[in-house]
Amino acid sequence: MDTNRQRGIAFDVYGTLVDPLGIGAHLRRWVGAAADQVARVWREKQLEYTWRRALMGAYAPFSICTVQALAYAFVQAGATLTPDAQADLMTAYRALPPFADAAAGLAQIRLAGYRMVAFSNGEAAAVRAVLSAAGLMEYLDDVVSVDEIGSFKPDRAVYHHMVKRMGLAADRIWMVSSNPFDVIGAKAAGLRVAWVRRRPDAQFDPWDVAPDLIVEHLGALAVALIAGRG
Ligand code: 2OP
Repeated sequence: MDTNRQRGIAFDVYGTLVDPLGIGAHLRRWVGAAADQVARVWREKQLEYTWRRALMGAYAPFSICTVQALAYAFVQAGATLTPDAQADLMTAYRALPPFADAAAGLAQIRLAGYRMVAFSNGEAAAVRAVLSAAGLMEYLDDVVSVDEIGSFKPDRAVYHHMVKRMGLAADRIWMVSSNPFDVIGAKAAGLRVAWVRRRPDAQFDPWDVAPDLIVEHLGALAVALIAGRG
């Protein structure tokens, strides 16, 4: 029988369900007017460190990449990362705000009966914490973390691991992400891919790889999947 239950959706977390740049309010307390710049550099360096560590075969958990990227961003802004600031910001990182459409979108998609997991660079405990704080964990069946195999997106191995964990064929699983590198990585691993274009000026990489679906928010994804395109 070909039911939706035999289909799965893996949702990227940071940037897709919760907003890493939403840490701005906490950053303002420590770096004042430089908050937005520090938030952006923090996120960029965090991802860069994951890519470099995956390439070097020098894995360290995402929380380490995140702390080290935070230290870099502070130095670049001419600020001092005190132990108190680090502790406050890393705590706040476990309570990032959800995107406005996330809860309603996940709830709608869930009604269609897909098996739904969060699939993230983050360690499972941190991902569960941030999704619970955001009120999103209740819509998901499980959390799959790259930490389970010690590499990072877009290493093909981490997508294969997620597919194995979901127990479905790769072409029965959608990867849903706002991060183009994640979308392209998942497509290369044989998954169907939806790019959530979270900002009108967000650019996709010109790599001769197109997402199977482009949506502005998770509500639109629900409509597209329920209309039978998924
Ligand atoms: C995630 O794996 C890439 O940060 C993104 O959640």
